[in-house]
Amino acid sequence: MLITKIYQPDEVAKAAAELRKGELIAFPTETVYGLGADATNEQAVKRVYLAKGRPTDNPLIVTVSSIAMMKNYVVELSEPAKRLLAKYWPGPLTLIFKIKPGSLSKAVTGGLTTAAFRMPANEVTRKLISAAGVPLVGPSANSSGKPSPTTAQHVYHDLEGSIAGIVDDGPTQVGVESTIIDMSAAIPAILRPGAITAEELTTFLGQEVMTDRHHVGQTEVPKAPGMKYKHYAPDAQVLIVANEQWQQALRWASRQTEKVGVMAPATILQADLPANCQGFNLGPDVESASRRLFAGLRYFDSDFKVNWILAAGFPEEGLGTAYMNRLRKSAGDQFFTTESTD
Ligand code: TXA
Ligand code: MG
Repeated sequence: MLITKIYQPDEVAKAAAELRKGELIAFPTETVYGLGADATNEQAVKRVYLAKGRPTDNPLIVTVSSIAMMKNYVVELSEPAKRLLAKYWPGPLTLIFKIKPGSLSKAVTGGLTTAAFRMPANEVTRKLISAAGVPLVGPSANSSGKPSPTTAQHVYHDLEGSIAGIVDDGPTQVGVESTIIDMSAAIPAILRPGAITAEELTTFLGQEVMTDRHHVGQTEVPKAPGMKYKHYAPDAQVLIVANEQWQQALRWASRQTEKVGVMAPATILQADLPANCQGFNLGPDVESASRRLFAGLRYFDSDFKVNWILAAGFPEEGLGTAYMNRLRKSAGDQFFTTESTD
């Protein structure tokens, strides 16, 4: 067992030295915490899969501190790609490009001819990467299948003893992982919704952007390989509650003999919750709900065990698309309905 050290933001030089030795260090980003290893060190990259319990056919994001660092690996940048980088980097947008053959190991790319690149907004992490002098692979720093970590404590809970350290820069700001846009095909395709929305990207690029609601001819938009796995799943069964269903959902909860977690805006929690229910405040809007979603799912798994979680749904537009994408996965797409639960 390793002793997992917590590094403060002013200790990035020490954390970078560990990375250069091939050790694993978790780092903060504006979306969720990532699990870093030297992307040019195949052994270190392999240990990332082991630490997370991640299937090895699921490629990793290459996390960089500059566009110049990325250019070592990318074949060429199209005009739209250059515009996206200029506008959204650093920030919560991951781009997929064709790579120079052999420039990244199979452990990073899963054998694909493309790779995903991201430059996080978090300054401490950009300093960490610069100090390490190499790009870092950066999957979310959770055990595979569990909700992504939005605090250093979440990372510690999942990975203590199997990684060398965690750089702690407090809770993350966005709370859901970056938007992934595939720029390796003629028409850009969003493989994972995030804070930078499809609506925004379509307007900015002034061209069609594929989402999984569209089809390219007969073929569906290819998914990020990781999206097919079970995700964000707490031990309890999650039921998504549409806004107009709360009264019925809470009445149903009051009839259960088991404990029920309620993740909702304060306005709903303030109404008298049944005695067997425990509330978790998602805040007033979809921004706060996205920031707190994973923390709420974890709260009901480790701090306050429940058998059911009722979680507030939001309209699937703007950031709501990313929020609902994660919530639907954690719920196995189950919504509260009077028929299905009574
Ligand atoms: O916000 C984020 O993106 C966080 C922070 C830590 O940066 N990272 C993150 O990484 O969410 P991860 O590994 O949990 O998710 C990366 C996703 C996976 O679903 C993976 O399958 C997909 O990106 N991916 C990676 N390389 C790809 C490629 N060449 N083509 C398609 N999908 C790819
Ligand atoms: Mg992940």
